[in-house]
Amino acid sequence: MPSLPDTERLLLGPGPSPVSPRVQRALSAPSLSHLDPDMMALLDEMRGRLDRVFRAAPGAFSFAVSGTGSAGLECAVSNLVRPGVHVAAVVAGYFGDRLAQVCERWGARVSRIEVPWGRAADPEQFARALRAEGADLVTLVHAETSTGVLHPVGDLAAVAREHGARIIVDAVTSLGAHPVDAAAWGADAVYSCSQKGLGAPSGLAPVTFSAEALDRGAGSQSFYFDIRLLRAYWTERKYHHTISAPLVYALAEALAAVEEEGLEARWARHRRHHSALASGLGAMGLELLPPEGERLWTLNAVCVPDGIDEAAVRRFLLTQFNIEIGAGLGPLAGRIWRVGLMGHGSSAQSVLVFLSALERALRDQGYPVTPGAGTAAAGDALATVK
Ligand SMILES: Cc1ncc(COP(=O)(O)O)c(C=O)c1O
Repeated sequence: MPSLPDTERLLLGPGPSPVSPRVQRALSAPSLSHLDPDMMALLDEMRGRLDRVFRAAPGAFSFAVSGTGSAGLECAVSNLVRPGVHVAAVVAGYFGDRLAQVCERWGARVSRIEVPWGRAADPEQFARALRAEGADLVTLVHAETSTGVLHPVGDLAAVAREHGARIIVDAVTSLGAHPVDAAAWGADAVYSCSQKGLGAPSGLAPVTFSAEALDRGAGSQSFYFDIRLLRAYWTERKYHHTISAPLVYALAEALAAVEEEGLEARWARHRRHHSALASGLGAMGLELLPPEGERLWTLNAVCVPDGIDEAAVRRFLLTQFNIEIGAGLGPLAGRIWRVGLMGHGSSAQSVLVFLSALERALRDQGYPVTPGAGTAAAGDALATVK
């Protein structure tokens, strides 16, 4: 029989992120049924915490759908997209494309607004596309995990609102780490996951629907994702499905930790560690794919230098140092490494351990790097960036 892991991997890939001991302990609390009064009290509290982390407007319904980030995506799309609806999808990477594909599966007529992988969407280009073709609904990815790019959702959503289009935002790699503001964006639905910026294991996907979206009759052909049934479970205790108690405990504990730290402090922590990592990589002669100002704090897309075997570096980090990082997806396969600093994993320790291990991996392939240059630069950045 294969054995369970007995060593702790340092999870510095695109997600899942490391789970803190506190959240790990929550997973083993005694089980409760999905309709137990104590469970319902936990879910009530979680709705409030999710309203706050999404910065949802009054009257919104925030909850967590059972499943991973893709369940959040399917829930948002299937409740807002009707057959024949015209969707303008900003596609700047793998996950923008997935969102467009799911809209097509639910019967939408999708126009793709393509953005070069590695660059942020341009609100002007977006405005021109909407002026030319209009749209009933737009789909936006806030943090495109395949490219390491943060997209200007505030500006893009303002353009969408001017055209009267409804808005779905993917905040899978930003919630709990970058500012997310469902109310200011005027988004009809924003979805995320539990296993990245929030720092819980995967399995519950936070989602928020605005009051307007609910009033305008959001509902799904899917039984499992129908917001009317899910809301009746979360607010009126009507059985819909058997939510996983350990996952609820873990997410509840992770959200409590987010509130104790404070959202602003948490965003600053993610920014600081990204910035230290970028300084360290720069000192080692390595580049990030997106230009400065368009980079995620959660996911660093590092360009693989010429002549380096990118898969061998990942293998070296895993086997020699127990560190996981991610590979590139689609057209970026073989061209970038994806290094995540998210949730509990966004720490000075992660940055310095990773840079030392990467130095060993690169020197193993004959790449010229001054010993200690990366960690020295990162250390200096950590001492100065607040
Ligand atoms: C931006 C984005 N959207 C959606 C998803 C899908 O989430 P999951 O793999 O949890 O289903 C991911 C996964 O990494 C993602 O990064």
